[in-house]
Amino acid sequence: MSVTATDEDRLVAQFEEVLARHDRVEPRDWMPEAYRATLVRQIAQHAHSEIIGMQPEGNWITRAPSLRRKAILLAKVQDEAGHGLYLYSAAETLGVSRDELTEKLISGRQKYSSIFNYPTLSYADVGTIGWLVDGAAIANQVPLCRTSYGPYGRAMIRICKEESFHQRQGFELLMTMMRGTEAQRAMVQESVDRFWWPALMMFGPPDDESPNTAQSMAWGIKRDTNDELRQKFVDMSVPQAEALGVTLPDPDLVWNAERGHHDFGQPDWDEFATVVRGGGPCNSQRIAHRKRAHDEGAWVREAATAFAARRARPTSDRPAPSGETVGTPA
Ligand SMILES: [Fe+2]
Ligand SMILES: [Fe+2]
Repeated sequence: MSVTATDEDRLVAQFEEVLARHDRVEPRDWMPEAYRATLVRQIAQHAHSEIIGMQPEGNWITRAPSLRRKAILLAKVQDEAGHGLYLYSAAETLGVSRDELTEKLISGRQKYSSIFNYPTLSYADVGTIGWLVDGAAIANQVPLCRTSYGPYGRAMIRICKEESFHQRQGFELLMTMMRGTEAQRAMVQESVDRFWWPALMMFGPPDDESPNTAQSMAWGIKRDTNDELRQKFVDMSVPQAEALGVTLPDPDLVWNAERGHHDFGQPDWDEFATVVRGGGPCNSQRIAHRKRAHDEGAWVREAATAFAARRARPTSDRPAPSGETVGTPA
């Protein structure tokens, strides 16, 4: 059935009304193609970030300093895998498949957050990532719980609960190190020095260089601009840095009583552009690792597909697998 011009006008009007009421758009609702494409791009990028984000911290699982730290880190990295899966499922409600999205990630046609292209050089980085990177993710993601697309917003509610836990475990790890030896305190400071600026870049380019922001806000996909979120993150991090006893590496960082916010310096946006284009310290390593894991998992996907196909057949048609005793009560 073709949609006439008047039908289309009516559908657009209905869609706009849903947005104006701050209601959710659901998978079966009509939506403009550009809205759908924007969501696919954003949700996929977000899902890929969760999955690629497992690598820098996963790097330290075998070298955790105690059983307790290892259990915490394992659980955290597994949470990130779960976040990726919720988000791929949300993207699938828009008519794309997870296979397709994975293919685009591996071939470099879809992006993930630039922060995960930086290396983790010490165990303090596990704490700093929890504190600053999960902290920035929370600042970005809490407003997304109210995003206009239903499945995305609902996934974000679950994810945010776990992200706040991640942030606390990172802060607690750093606090423990800050109460330790001089060498441990130096390790924390060095780690914060490396991650502070890349964490600020996580909010994206400044508003006047962010061409998609206005449309995303009009559609209710985004609720705040990049610069508003970056400001919120800086204001939140300063008292936390004081409590830890670390210095944030920005000579321009100062409280502005008139604005009621901190003034702060700008990250190196040329570096950001280089990392986004693929020239960061770990870009090729991250993608190569993801591709290897995907290739090595091919047999699992094939086995799961064959198993599902066998289950879908009527019982009488199923061959008895070798080693399985047929007819004996369990
Ligand atoms: Fe996550
Ligand atoms: Fe997290």
